[in-house]
Amino acid sequence: MTGLILPPGAGELKAPQISGVPKHVAIIMDGNGRWANERGLPRTEGHRQGEIALMDTIAGAVEIGVKELTVYAFSTENWKRSPAEVKFLMGYSRDVIRRRAAQLHSWGVRINWWGRRPRLWKSVITELEKAHQLTRENTRLDFNMAVNYGGRAEITDAVNQITREVAAGSLQAGHITEGVFGKRLYGKGTDVDLLIRTGGEQRISNFLLWQCAYAEFMFNPVAWPEYRRETLWDDILAFTGRERRFGTAQDKVTG
Ligand code: IPE
Ligand code: IPE
Ligand code: MG
Repeated sequence: MTGLILPPGAGELKAPQISGVPKHVAIIMDGNGRWANERGLPRTEGHRQGEIALMDTIAGAVEIGVKELTVYAFSTENWKRSPAEVKFLMGYSRDVIRRRAAQLHSWGVRINWWGRRPRLWKSVITELEKAHQLTRENTRLDFNMAVNYGGRAEITDAVNQITREVAAGSLQAGHITEGVFGKRLYGKGTDVDLLIRTGGEQRISNFLLWQCAYAEFMFNPVAWPEYRRETLWDDILAFTGRERRFGTAQDKVTG
């Protein structure tokens, strides 16, 4: 798929100039299959349309000033789908990264892969690693692609890493803090400020369980293939209207 994507800053459409833009936005890109089936198309056609949505959303994230964007492309549970759909998703992920890495590089985006190696197609890992090498000096936006990712798998892997470090003597048993633990997660476990799920479902589906401890959740009924930079900006605008308390409280007597 080659849709024209306007690079950040190039279009007529301008990102709203607002304060309080979330630093780290995570997106569960959901609703592709239903979107396609409702139009008499196979599920894979929905995934295909998702590429334009993704590129436009990344451009919009750069424009509005998001610093980190993590998207859920394939979960550790998605292996349960039909062999044909899994095969399509693997091949398509590989092709999207191959097709788009240079363009994202020109936008100043750093591409990172979050996920587990076992089972994942080697060609997908190769493309993700090549894309990371190409873009690793970029600082405008960290774009984390979660492929063969599961929140529980990530936490379990961090625990195993810590036990290895304790056994080697570089960490002391009984002295593991939240900070020490978080650093063993992908991307050092930065907090998610805003979690968006498209497609209407209201669940987390094993995404960023640790990082979402204080995230604001936005459940957008729009199917992922129809999501665009303006949709992201609307979601971010709604986010800036929320009051984040992090456990604190203030008297605001009105009566
Ligand atoms: C999200 O869309 C994409 C992936 C999980 C890879 P779905 O394929 O889950 O689409 P729905 O939710 O069935 O409509
Ligand atoms: C979550 O969506 C995974 C991705 C978007 C990659 P699913 O469609 O797989 O989640 P469930 O099955 O509805 O929980
Ligand atoms: Mg789904």
